[in-house]
Amino acid sequence: MSLVRGLHHITVCAGGAQEDIDFMTQVCGQRLIKQTVLFDGRYAHYHLYYANADCEPGSVYTTFPFNRVKGRPGAGQIQSTAYTVPKGSVKFWEEHVKRHKVPSEGVKERFGQKYLRFNHPSGLQIEVIEDDSDKRKGWTTDQVSSDVAMKGFHGPMLSVREVSETERFFVDALGFKKTGTEGNLHRFEVAGGGPARTVTLMHEPDRPSGSWVFGAGTAHHVAMDLESDEKLAEQKGIYEELGYTDCSEIKDRNYFHSIYCRCPGGILVECAATAQGAFARDEAESELGTHMLLPPWFEEKRAEIMAMLDPIRVPEGNIPKDAKKVAAATLPDAGPGDTSAAGVSRRKAEFIGGDKSKN
Ligand SMILES: [Fe+2]
Repeated sequence: MSLVRGLHHITVCAGGAQEDIDFMTQVCGQRLIKQTVLFDGRYAHYHLYYANADCEPGSVYTTFPFNRVKGRPGAGQIQSTAYTVPKGSVKFWEEHVKRHKVPSEGVKERFGQKYLRFNHPSGLQIEVIEDDSDKRKGWTTDQVSSDVAMKGFHGPMLSVREVSETERFFVDALGFKKTGTEGNLHRFEVAGGGPARTVTLMHEPDRPSGSWVFGAGTAHHVAMDLESDEKLAEQKGIYEELGYTDCSEIKDRNYFHSIYCRCPGGILVECAATAQGAFARDEAESELGTHMLLPPWFEEKRAEIMAMLDPIRVPEGNIPKDAKKVAAATLPDAGPGDTSAAGVSRRKAEFIGGDKSKN
């Protein structure tokens, strides 16, 4: 049986922070659920998290606004991220993105499902794909009502120059099953399949490889959802047994713990186990995304970090309409052991710059 329960999050590099927030909340109708910073490196960058109404794994799209470095799209990368929408709503999305002057490729179909692909301002690609089997609750806004809202991920599309070894990785190491082929597309599903349990490989043998570095306009990695730190250790064992010996140690990402392993097609795959308290561990449910939150070990450098970041504005609609103010004191206790993940990567903040340093 697979240790992977489905998708956990997808992480991409956007361009400017405010344009990312405006696009993800106003065009895609997502809720900004967390503002924090990238935990690695010497430059301060935002790390912004967006999700559906219940902030569920499998709906969490995270962005590093990364103006400092431009990425090069290509093979060996996540090509696009597809969100599920109700049947019949793709037409709405075509008109909605047009109203926002967002370029789209028009309504198409794959595996019998209608979809629309459109562009994030940084060049990243987002899709909405119709699937009525998805019962999750989408976040709603003034322009995106519940009958059309994105419910969470359907799944990423990964561009690969060769299919076979990436297929072996997803099947043997992660427990996916191949469930369909259509043209140059190969669909894989895990844990019962369907929305948030699907990955599609797009075979592009002649496409030059994309960049691996953090860079604006390219996706960085896809994360699978595992139950616990013990399962992460078990997954690391599976990787090593199969010969994928470049799996990372367990890293503490504050809201979840993670291991990373690059698959043969070049795409970085993370396995993540949600930490106790999840996204509400440092911010009340009703106020998610409205404070700049740093992990405890970065707190003493807050002023220095903030000086390196452009100020951002969170739209008013980001607070649930029926939300009551919840005192910080009522936040769930993160619990002992949460900051003691085995072999955690970084506990000291030493920054030399941020996106602003480029200007
Ligand atoms: Fe991640």
